[in-house]
Amino acid sequence: MAKTIGIFDSGVGGLTILSSIVNEMSDSAEYHYVADSLHAPYGSKSIEALLERSRRITEFLISKGSELIVVACNTATTQVISALRAEFKIPFVGIEPAVKPAAQLSVSKRIGVIATANTLKSNLFKQTLKTYASECKTFTRMGEGLVEAIETGELASIELNDLVRDHVAYFNSNKIDVLVLGCTHYSFLSLLFEKYLDQSTSLVTPNEAVARRVQSVIGTLDSQAGSVSSIYVYSTSEKLGSLKKLIAAENLEVDQVLHTQI
Ligand code: DGL
Repeated sequence: MAKTIGIFDSGVGGLTILSSIVNEMSDSAEYHYVADSLHAPYGSKSIEALLERSRRITEFLISKGSELIVVACNTATTQVISALRAEFKIPFVGIEPAVKPAAQLSVSKRIGVIATANTLKSNLFKQTLKTYASECKTFTRMGEGLVEAIETGELASIELNDLVRDHVAYFNSNKIDVLVLGCTHYSFLSLLFEKYLDQSTSLVTPNEAVARRVQSVIGTLDSQAGSVSSIYVYSTSEKLGSLKKLIAAENLEVDQVLHTQI
């Protein structure tokens, strides 16, 4: 069997992780990506609702032959990945805000994290702060409005520009020197964040670290590398326009983009 990797997010955000994985992988693989755009955003959903969506999507990805699932969503990882691991036998790789590298990089020991409400209130995030950033003053902010705007695929709108400027103003006024993008959707806006952040502030995402982790886990499985990589993208929404636009923005060579009911 060819190496087969399942990936999901509440919507288009995890495409930024998919492209990091495709770039990192030394072998060809088959990728199945689910954008749960019909049910986005996940940021304020109950744990029960998140678990229900994540469980169904995991079953779908396993039915496509996935032998490893990447939860390319900070919100789902911080809320339900341990329940998924307990329920399904295959390995899961998750993503959570890159607090540890941010704390190491910070000179002023003032760091910022922008993420969804669910991620910021999760026990996993609180624990991560305690473990890795206890010597830092951490400023957190919910990225209100960002996921909805990114899901439209209109990344160059004036409204989105103003929204990012407002979020960034909070961090600039608190004199941080490292900002963690704690939601996979926000990676699409890296340049916009950089445009407004004070020049001395660095932006951090865990995308490369997640891709390296996927590469190392997939290497432990028995399956063989295929001769070429293939990528299948599914959306729970019938509207595929913004998904296709953001696939192009990430330079992903996708074989098929399909609507699916999960
Ligand atoms: N992209 C997701 C994350 O990394 C979820 C955003 C949302 O749906 O609210 O948190």
